[in-house]
Amino acid sequence: MSTIKSGLPSGLVAIYPGSFDPITNGHLDLIARGSRMAGRLIVAVLRNQAKHPLFSVEERLEMIAEVVKPYPNVEIAAFEGLLVDFAASRGATMIVRGMRAVSDYELEWEMALMNRRLKPEIETVFLMAGEEYSFISSHLVKEVAALGGNVSDVVPPSVEQRLKKRIAARKG
Ligand code: PNS
Repeated sequence: MSTIKSGLPSGLVAIYPGSFDPITNGHLDLIARGSRMAGRLIVAVLRNQAKHPLFSVEERLEMIAEVVKPYPNVEIAAFEGLLVDFAASRGATMIVRGMRAVSDYELEWEMALMNRRLKPEIETVFLMAGEEYSFISSHLVKEVAALGGNVSDVVPPSVEQRLKKRIAARKG
C-alpha cells in the first residue's frame, strides 16, 4: 500500500465523530491534523434525539462543509446508532478524538475501551488539542455567545454569524 507524507497508509480511512454544535476552531485544528494522517477523514455528526441542540444536524453539516473546503480528503456525514458500526460501514479503521485536558480523559478512555470491545479492528487515536484551543468547547462557545460575549477568535467567522443570528432569533 502506498503511503502519504506522514508514513501512514494513504488508503487509511479515519472517522472524526462528535456533536459539533457548533464546530469550533478546536475541532477545525483536529480536522486539519487528522486529514494529514489519513487518506480520507470522515467528519461524522451524531444524530442524537436526546440532546437539545442549538443547531439542527443539517445546519451543523452545512457549517462544517463551509469550513473544511481547504481539505480535499475530508468528507462529512451524519450517523445514528453505534459509532463503530457506522465506521465499519464506511470502511474506517481509525477513530480520531481530541484530548484537551485531563478532564477529558476519563470519558474518552471509557468510550475508547467500549468501542474497542465492540470492534477491536477499529483503533481510537487521540490527538492533543493545540494549547490555544485546549479551553474551547461548543458548550462554552454557546454560553458566551448567548450572553453577548465575543467568540470571534474561537469559531470560524461563518459559524460566528450563524451563532449571532440564532441567538438573536431565540431572544426575539
Ligand atoms: O462531541 P461529543 O459529544 O463528545 O461526541 C460524542 C460521540 C458522538 C463521539 C459519542 O457520543 C458517540 O460515539 N456516540 C454514538 C453512540 C455510540 O457509539 N455509543 C457508544 C460509544 S462508547
